[in-house]
Amino acid sequence: EARLDPNSLGLPYFHFEDIDSTNLEARRRAEKGVPHGALLATEYQSKGRGRLERRWIAPKGACLMFSLVLRPKLEMSLVFGLTNLAALAVCRALEEITGLEPKIKWPNDLYLSGVKLAGVLTEFASRAEQVEYVVVGVGLNVNLSRQDLAEIGSPATSLLSETGRSWDRARILAAVMRNMNGLYETFTKGDRRALVAEYEARSWLLGKEVSVRDGDEVKTGLFKGMAADGALILKGRTKEMLIRHGDVTVLSV
Ligand code: BTN
Repeated sequence: EARLDPNSLGLPYFHFEDIDSTNLEARRRAEKGVPHGALLATEYQSKGRGRLERRWIAPKGACLMFSLVLRPKLEMSLVFGLTNLAALAVCRALEEITGLEPKIKWPNDLYLSGVKLAGVLTEFASRAEQVEYVVVGVGLNVNLSRQDLAEIGSPATSLLSETGRSWDRARILAAVMRNMNGLYETFTKGDRRALVAEYEARSWLLGKEVSVRDGDEVKTGLFKGMAADGALILKGRTKEMLIRHGDVTVLSV
């Protein structure tokens, strides 16, 4: 059950005990030509990274941390839509295995009970407007105790804390890869409407009043849904806005 499907994304597979960051290692290996589908997972990261220069902190062995290397033939404008797939793949896998239904906080955080359960950090390299590789990194709080969670500093939860039992990380990883494989095929074949609809249905922000900060710019409005390309549609007082980057704060429920 915990084995990676040979026809699915996730091979070659590299497992580390201790590394600076699987995203950094994946980028180094991608530069040296590691193939599409390569997967790197680790027990511990000394320099785990989150979005917006944040750190990702996890005690050894408790968190599922991995990075997937993709080499899609896509225009650059579609890359950020691709990053949404990882959030969907993790949601589906968790639903299958644990029955829990996490919600996606746009763009790429998973929330459960109103706090963070997982995060996705996507990085890519391009040459002459063509995507060379994409690294999709996921950190999922699996077996973190309440004590571990308290040490993170920002509000967070784990599967252990939500369900009162521990979970097999390898089994979850295999299910994420299987789902990612199907989602990736649908995404690259072109009909992305079903994916956008699923993302929207799993969205934590739908119908909420939010503000999105991108650098010094702050936009406020109602989260109306997702555009066909995965951008967020925000309904302001006078106009609708399409948002592709930023950090979301929920203003009201
Ligand atoms: C976020 O919450 O802002 C994203 C967190 C992403 C963390 C994962 S853990 C595996 C991979 N390697 C990293 O350094 N970061 C990602």
